[in-house]
Amino acid sequence: MTTEPNINMLDRNKIPKHIAIIMDGNGRWAKERGLPRIAGHWAGAKVLRSIVEFCAEIGIQVLSVFAFSTENWKRPLDEVNLILNLLLYYLKKEVNNLHENNIIIHITGEWQQLPINIAEEISRGIELTKSNTGMILNIALNYGSRKEIIKACRDLCIDVKNDKIGIEDIDEKLFKEYLFTKNLPDPDLLIRPSGELRISNFLLWQIAYAELWFTEKYWPDFKIEDLLNAILAYQNRERRFGGLKK
Ligand code: IPE
Ligand code: IPE
Ligand code: MG
Repeated sequence: MTTEPNINMLDRNKIPKHIAIIMDGNGRWAKERGLPRIAGHWAGAKVLRSIVEFCAEIGIQVLSVFAFSTENWKRPLDEVNLILNLLLYYLKKEVNNLHENNIIIHITGEWQQLPINIAEEISRGIELTKSNTGMILNIALNYGSRKEIIKACRDLCIDVKNDKIGIEDIDEKLFKEYLFTKNLPDPDLLIRPSGELRISNFLLWQIAYAELWFTEKYWPDFKIEDLLNAILAYQNRERRFGGLKK
């Protein structure tokens, strides 16, 4: 694109309801600068702040961000601990600010299993912002999509066993009720920076018909202009959901 995108180029009637972002590339961003990997995670957290504000401003209803996966526990303990510390710092610093901006904090993933000081901070954030009416910031934390689906199956089985539901009642609508995202619409647009062309176990059920958008840029370099380019591309796509062109 030759001209820089700007907010006036957006079609206000076609704003995606739900944008999901895999915030990837922090480590490589740091490595390129000769910095420790954690410096990339800090830079990434800063970017998140600006993206949240912008999404709220243009009327996005839900912004989902992948912050820490169940598979990320495989990383060296040092890195995991530093990421968890950053998370705690981010929550302490941002929760009040998010609340002032009328944002609702929603967590997808097994956040209760995180260290107690983090779980407490999350709980505070959810409680404080639950009556807000603005954008939902859905943070995927200690989240893996396959684990989510298995958990949903188990919970469904328990309800069948206890005669709460019959096997014949199980359909897509009911299955959704057992997912962390039960109260959220499915993502319309999924963005992945960092040049990787994969989903890495993020919202597999929910993104069945999401439009995908990739960029080579690392997450700490991601700018409002990149988000605008992603939304503009989305607005030019034709979503058919298996049907035919209107
Ligand atoms: C994403 O950045 C953040 C987390 C997974 C926590 P990475 O840490 O995966 O950065 P790269 O992919 O190694 O560059
Ligand atoms: C996905 O990125 C998880 C997050 C961004 C939190 P990863 O860096 O963990 O994914 P892979 O390992 O490249 O697939
Ligand atoms: Mg990565």
